[in-house]
Amino acid sequence: MRIEISSLGPTQWAGEALATGVFKEDSDRFGAMDIRMDGEIRKLFSRGMFEGDWKQTYMLDTHGKLDCERLLLIGLGERSKFDLARLRKASALVTRFLKEAGISNFATDLHGTGPGSTEERAQAVTEGMMLGNYRFTRKHEEKPKGIVSAVLLERNDMNRVRRGIESGEVIAESVNRTRNLVNGPAGEVTADFLAGEAAKLANRYGLKITVIGKSEMELLGMNAILAVNKGSASDPKFVILEWDGGGRTVAVVGKGITFDSGGLNLKNTPNIKDMKSDMAGAAVVIGLMEAAARLRLPVRLIGAFVATDNMPGPNATRPGDIITAYNGKTIEVVNTDAEGRLILADALSYVEKNYRPSAIIDIATLTAACVVALGHHAAGMLGTDEKLAEMMTAAGRKTGERVWQLPLWDEYREMVKGDLTDMVNSGKEDVLGPGAITGAAFLSNFVEGTPWAHLDIAGTAWVPMVTELHPKGATGWGVRLLIELLRNY
Ligand code: BES
Ligand code: ZN
Ligand code: ZN
Repeated sequence: MRIEISSLGPTQWAGEALATGVFKEDSDRFGAMDIRMDGEIRKLFSRGMFEGDWKQTYMLDTHGKLDCERLLLIGLGERSKFDLARLRKASALVTRFLKEAGISNFATDLHGTGPGSTEERAQAVTEGMMLGNYRFTRKHEEKPKGIVSAVLLERNDMNRVRRGIESGEVIAESVNRTRNLVNGPAGEVTADFLAGEAAKLANRYGLKITVIGKSEMELLGMNAILAVNKGSASDPKFVILEWDGGGRTVAVVGKGITFDSGGLNLKNTPNIKDMKSDMAGAAVVIGLMEAAARLRLPVRLIGAFVATDNMPGPNATRPGDIITAYNGKTIEVVNTDAEGRLILADALSYVEKNYRPSAIIDIATLTAACVVALGHHAAGMLGTDEKLAEMMTAAGRKTGERVWQLPLWDEYREMVKGDLTDMVNSGKEDVLGPGAITGAAFLSNFVEGTPWAHLDIAGTAWVPMVTELHPKGATGWGVRLLIELLRNY
């Protein structure tokens, strides 16, 4: 999908369709366009057929009265509720609507609407277009439908709009790359495959890459990662990418379970097939590192992930097995399905010790309990640093990738202490307990003093419903949030 700029006005643009937004309050203001349309738009309002309600759409044939063939009106709702997140959604909605209508090129002036700078608005509109146009298909089709080109109509502020389009494109391409990795089947998207994707990125953008394989993990004592991998037929990979844009060091660590069968605590659910998405945290790291290099984010960014599947092979870790993690703490593996926190434990302490970052963020499809708590509309956030949490919350509001903080009081940390060992990887209370919190409480034992935030994306990375910005399945959630956070870090 190409996104271009044109200095033509809305009534002059000649193409298949023109999309324009209408606020609820603006029903009587149509000016030039309505005059050209012989008052047809105003008539829609007076007949109650289109009222500018949020997400309402109405398409008219222009019958040659405008230079384009069709006019799509999109309701923007009340002006006071309109923000960049709504603008992005409106742009995505328009793109999906026109795609479904079989249209391949259209123009819009949507970026001229709403709060934020011109650049931010053009970026949001571009993201909306490219995210709304995304789909993942392995069908043998003749000719997939899709928007080939979209044009932003702008005559005054072309440079700012162009810059907004450029960052919007980079960001949306990264999100869509992340989505492709998460939607890809576990038989393809293996630990080796993810390490290969990281190596390709490193090559293309000159990032530093370190790949720690199984034998090095054995030497280093990364027994928590190795414990998860024991039931697998293939080796684990711990991948660390590095972008140096100057500035402070920030580390982002992703969970990369390429398939979570549960291990010997085998998952007993038809939804087990969706557990190919348990590497979404790692996929976010890959998307983020690409965006960091292309946008030249002003930080030294360490992007790390551990990739392995969690399988019940003959050598699998047994419930009750005891391991010593990389940082020396002992863990009783009471449930092999609580594997994400095990791989993250070693990854977090390794990254903290070897890179001394000023902040560590981990991102993981960690607990079903988080889906129960927040559904699919916010990620759980827990951590040790209020300032980092506030910055994350602000970035969430701006991007529409919202986070919701849960507490991490000492009482919760008590719940993951073991009888035999320093820790258990899941307390009994997890059956009917605060699982998202105890998951994070476990992880907190593997970050010594660095400001740390944990994002539980179990509910947001993979969704059962279509929204404006994505089809069912992978959302790429977190890429936009973290780019926004790091742009202002
Ligand atoms: N990958 C799952 C969490 C998950 C569940 C993500 C559903 C997305 C949708 C994780 O490894 C897991 O199995 N967690 C267990 C932990 C429990 C055994 C303490 C859970 O949440 O049930
Ligand atoms: Zn699990
Ligand atoms: Zn898992």
